[in-house]
Amino acid sequence: MNQDHAGRITREGIRIHEAADFAGMHAAGKMAAQILDEVAALVDVGRTTGELDDFITRRVTELGTVSATIGYKGYQHASCISVNHVVCHGIPGDKVLKDGDILNIDVTVINDGWYGDSSRMYVAGKLSRKAERLIQVTHDSLMKGIEAVRPGNTFGDIGAAIQAYVEGHRMSVVRDFCGHGLGRVFHAPPNVLHYGRPGTGPILEEGMFFTIEPMVNLGRPETKVLGDDWTAVTRDKSLSAQFEHSIGVTADGSEIFTLSPAGRFHPTY
Ligand code: MF3
Ligand code: CO
Ligand code: CO
Repeated sequence: MNQDHAGRITREGIRIHEAADFAGMHAAGKMAAQILDEVAALVDVGRTTGELDDFITRRVTELGTVSATIGYKGYQHASCISVNHVVCHGIPGDKVLKDGDILNIDVTVINDGWYGDSSRMYVAGKLSRKAERLIQVTHDSLMKGIEAVRPGNTFGDIGAAIQAYVEGHRMSVVRDFCGHGLGRVFHAPPNVLHYGRPGTGPILEEGMFFTIEPMVNLGRPETKVLGDDWTAVTRDKSLSAQFEHSIGVTADGSEIFTLSPAGRFHPTY
């Protein structure tokens, strides 16, 4: 890290972190990723999303870390669990998983002051061909976005890479939710859009920390939030998928903070 550029805030309000800050983010990201690894063994037909969240709550404590979502804007759970046509922010509860359900589990921890935010897709029972395709394209779109991350590129390059990939597979990118800067805070500038035009938006700089978390729908991109004020669903009831990594910009690309220690970020190996 070039110290001339560390500890600065850009014109767009984006914090440029110092080299030493990467270690804190790696530790936090690993906590979130390990919990996402562990919960995979519990996902099955007959389980409730509340049971999965109970496990996550317990593991957060046992690992000596802290949930970022419990108490966040009144949210009361350690995870968001979004099943089938739920796009994001699904509230865990007594919903019973049935054969073929696909679900996103999103976990954020605060570890030693640093935020680690990640989500992945899981399957209960037998995965349908169309759901498998949706999950694969969503996962790969996140990786295309991450590949566009390097100093000198722009946030618009990330969004454009994701959008081109998703729409090339005749699926749609959700516009109503985006990724975000993070670090010692949960949600910081910039909004990381998962669509856009190359060369637009803030220029990426070494030391920026943010999430990329594309939500992809099999049908149309429009969403609506249910009466609980959290659960976002596809308006056309089509299936939706999401993957999220927290990353940091390095001199020649990026580092992923939320890599799976068990190598199981993608569910369909
Ligand atoms: N983890 C989500 C994100 O990716 C935010 C969840 S906020 C909650 O930004 F309150 F719904 F948990
Ligand atoms: Co996030
Ligand atoms: Co998240």
